[in-house]
Amino acid sequence: MGRQIFTCRTLILLTCICIFFTMVHGDLSYTVPEETKRQSVIGNVAKDLGLDVKRLSSRKARIETEDSTKRYCDINLSSGNLVVAEIMDREELCGSRIACILNYELVLENPLEVHRVSLQIEDINDNAPRFPNERIMFEISESAVKGKRFSLDEAHDSDIGQNAVQGYTLQRNDHFILSIHETAERGKYAELVLEKELDREEQNEINLILTANDGGTPQRSGTVLIHISVLDANDNTPVFSQPVYRVTLSENAPLGSGVVTVSATDADEGANGDVSYEFSRISDRAAKRFSIDKITGEIKVNGNIDFEEEKSYEMRVQAKDGPGLTSSAKIVIDVTDVNDNAPKIVLKSLNDPVPENAVIGTEVGIINVQDKDSGDNRKIRCSIQQNVPFKLNPSIKNYFSLTTTDALDREKEVDYNITITATDEGSPPLSSFMTIHLSVSDINDNPPVFEEQFYSAYVSENNKAGASICSVTARDPDWRQNGTVLYSLVSSEVNGIPVSSFLSVNGDTGVIHAVRSFDYEQFRSFKVQVVARDNGSPPLSSNTTVSVFISDENDNSPQILYPAPEGKTLMTEMVPKAALSGSLVSKVIAVDADSGQNAWLSYYIIKSTDPGLFTIGLRTGEIRAQRDITESDNMKQNLVISVKDNGQPPLSTTCSVYLLISDNLAEVPELKDMTYEENNSNLTSYLIIALVSVSTFFLTFIILILAVRFCHRRKPRLLFDGAVAIPSAYLPPNYAEVDGTGTLRSSYNYDAYLTTGSRTSDFKFVRSYNDNTLPASGTLKMCQDDPYVSSIINTDYDEVRISSISCK
Ligand SMILES: *[C@@H]1O[C@H](CO)[C@@H](O)[C@H](O)[C@H]1NC(C)=O
Ligand SMILES: *[C@@H]1O[C@H](CO)[C@@H](O)[C@H](O)[C@H]1NC(C)=O
Ligand SMILES: *[C@@H]1O[C@H](CO)[C@@H](O)[C@H](O)[C@H]1NC(C)=O
Repeated sequence: MGRQIFTCRTLILLTCICIFFTMVHGDLSYTVPEETKRQSVIGNVAKDLGLDVKRLSSRKARIETEDSTKRYCDINLSSGNLVVAEIMDREELCGSRIACILNYELVLENPLEVHRVSLQIEDINDNAPRFPNERIMFEISESAVKGKRFSLDEAHDSDIGQNAVQGYTLQRNDHFILSIHETAERGKYAELVLEKELDREEQNEINLILTANDGGTPQRSGTVLIHISVLDANDNTPVFSQPVYRVTLSENAPLGSGVVTVSATDADEGANGDVSYEFSRISDRAAKRFSIDKITGEIKVNGNIDFEEEKSYEMRVQAKDGPGLTSSAKIVIDVTDVNDNAPKIVLKSLNDPVPENAVIGTEVGIINVQDKDSGDNRKIRCSIQQNVPFKLNPSIKNYFSLTTTDALDREKEVDYNITITATDEGSPPLSSFMTIHLSVSDINDNPPVFEEQFYSAYVSENNKAGASICSVTARDPDWRQNGTVLYSLVSSEVNGIPVSSFLSVNGDTGVIHAVRSFDYEQFRSFKVQVVARDNGSPPLSSNTTVSVFISDENDNSPQILYPAPEGKTLMTEMVPKAALSGSLVSKVIAVDADSGQNAWLSYYIIKSTDPGLFTIGLRTGEIRAQRDITESDNMKQNLVISVKDNGQPPLSTTCSVYLLISDNLAEVPELKDMTYEENNSNLTSYLIIALVSVSTFFLTFIILILAVRFCHRRKPRLLFDGAVAIPSAYLPPNYAEVDGTGTLRSSYNYDAYLTTGSRTSDFKFVRSYNDNTLPASGTLKMCQDDPYVSSIINTDYDEVRISSISCK
C-alpha cells in the first residue's frame, strides 16, 4: 500500500499532440509579440476559462512551467489577467524555429485543476541582416566570360518570416549585376553575375557594397564590402562530395570530438586548388557549439551539446579556393538523447500541518514530476515508502496528489517524513528523491485519564487544617492547552455539609488538602469525586473517586456509664452478708468513643477498703467477692476503680463504688458516713453519737422499711443478678452504627435500683433501652471493628431497679 507506479509516457505523448494539433477543452492559447514590456496584459484567463475571479486567490491559482524553466508570464490574481512577467526574446528562446510556443500550466487547487496555457511568441523585426564576414573577397580572372556567376555569402537575420532577409541590392557598377535565387533548401541567396568583361589593365580592383534587406517594418539592412581583384588566370570552383551532410550526435559529446568532415575538391592545380572551409550560414547557437577546421573541413564539438536545449542544428559550410571561388553544402546535425536528466520532483503545494482528525483520503499535497529527457528516458515511476499512512494518486497529467490512507493520531506520530522516489526508465535509470516533512496538528481528542481508578487517603483524626492528605494525577497526551489538566472537586455533601468545607484540591497539582480537622467520632470515611478537565475547547474531562478514611486517635477517655458519673448523688450497692466467694456484687460499665485498641478497656481496683475482698474482671468490669463474706468484714466497703483504654498513651477514668454488706436496708448507715468512711478511727464515736441521735427514730424506720420490704417480697433474691439500665443519652452517637455482634452475655440479668438521692426514696423504673438502639434480637449492636468494647446488657427483663449507688 502506498506504492504507486505511474508511467508518464501516455501523458507526455498526449501532451505533445495537444500542443500542436488540438486544444483540449479548457486549454488556452495566446499570441504575444516578443519584447513586450513587463506587466502588459496578454489575455484574461479567468474570463476565458469562465472562472470566478474572486476565487482565484483562495484556489491558489498560479502559473507553473512544465519543466521548471523560466516563467515569462504570470497571472494577476485580482483581475485574472495573464501578464508578461519577463521580456521575451524570440530569437533567444526559439532561434530559427518558425513556431515559438511556450507552454505553461495554470494550476488551481481545491479541487485540483490544471489548464494548459500556450503562449505563441510573435516575431518582431528587432534584428538586422548580418553577413558572416566583414568583406567578401574575389579573385576573378579577366578571361571570365559574361554571365559567369559567383556565389555570394548569405546574410543572416535572426528574425523569421518577413523579418528575415528578403532581398539583396548591389551598388551600381559597370561590370556586375545581382541574381537572386531562392531554393527550398537554401532560401534566398544572391549570385554576382558578370555583365561586362573585366579588363585588368583598365581596373585591377573593384569594391562594391552589397546590401541585404529584411521585410520588416521598419526595414532593416546589413551591408558587406565585396572586394574583387582582377586576375590573369582561369580556374574551377570547389565541389563538395555531397550537397547535404546529415549526421547524428549524441548529446553531452565531449569537447573536441569530431562530428563530420566535409570535403570539397577543386580541379585546379596549386594554390587555385587549395580549398578552405568555413561556416557560411550558422545560427548564433550553433556557432557557439561547433567549429570547423579551415584546412581539413572537420567539424568538431566546441561547446556543450544538450538535447534538451536543441534537438537539431543546421548550418552551411562554404568551401573556397585560393582565388575565392566558393560553393556551399548543408550540414544537419541531429542530436540524440542520453538519459542525463534525473526526474525532478516538485512539491506544488503542501497542507502542513494536517490536523489529526483529517478524514481518510484528505489531500495533503500536490506533487509534479518532470524529466527533461525524451522517450523511455522520460517515463517516470513514482513511489512512496511503505510505512506511512499516505499514498500517491496519479492525477491530471504528471501531477500526483498525496492523500492519507489511514487515520492520523498526533499522540502516536507527531510528524512524518514522506520520501517520494521518482525513477525514469532510461538505461541506466536515474532516480531522485524528495522528503516531505509533514506535521500532524493537535485536536483535543483525549480526555485526561487518572493514573488510578480510585484513590484512598488515610488521615488521622485531629489532623491539622491545611495538611495535604493525598494527591491525584491525570495525564492527557494532547498538546499544550489541550493536554493541560486542571483538577476540581465535584460539589457534593458529607453529612449535609458541602464537601468543599472538608477538602480542597490544588487545581494545577492535584494535591488534596484537608480544610478542617476531622473527628473520627463524627464520621469515619467519606467519598469525594475529583474531576480532571483539560483546557481545550470544548474541554474534555474524567473523574475519579477519592475515599478518605479517618483513623482513630486515642482522644476520648473511657466514659463511665455505671455507676452514674460524678455530680449525681452517691449510690451504694448492697451486698448480701451471705455472699459467697465468686458471687457478682456489681459491675462497672464504661464505654470509649474511640475504637479498636483505643476503646479496649481494662478495669482495675486501685484502692479498696479491704484489699482482697473484691476483685474486678479485667475486661468485664464485674466486681465479685474474692472470698466468702464474713461477719468480721467491714460493713462499708469502698472501691476506687480505674478504667483504662489501650491507646498510646492510654487514657483512664476512675470512679468509686460503695458497697454495703448488709441484708437489711435498715442497716444502711447515713450516706454521709459512707462518704467519709475512710475515717475509721472516728467510726466508733460516730456510731455512738448516731445511736443516741437515731434511737428515738429507730422504731419508726423499722416499721417503714418493713412495710417497703413487705411490698417487694414477691422477688426475694440473694444474688445480684439483674441488668443495668443505661440511659440512652450516655451512648455514643454512633454506637449502633456498624453491623456486628456485641458481646452480651445473656446469663446476666440485672435488676438495678435507681434512687434519686435517698436510700428510702421512690424507685424509678426504667423500661428497657432506647428502642432505636435495641433491635429485636435483643442485642445492642456494636462497631464491628471494636470487638473489645465491653458490652453489656440483655434486655430480657421488664423492669430495672437501680439501687443506691454513688459515684465519686
Ligand atoms: C524527520 O526528519 C527530521 C529531520 O531530519 C527529524 O528531526 C525527525 O525526527 C524525523 N521524523 C520522523 C518521524 O522520522
Ligand atoms: C487544541 O485542539 C483544538 C481542536 O480540538 C485545535 O483547534 C487547537 O489548535 C488545539 N490546540 C493546540 C495548541 O494544538
Ligand atoms: C464521572 O464520570 C462518569 C463516567 O466516567 C460520568 O458518567 C459522570 O457523569 C461523571 N461525573 C461528573 C460529575 O463529571
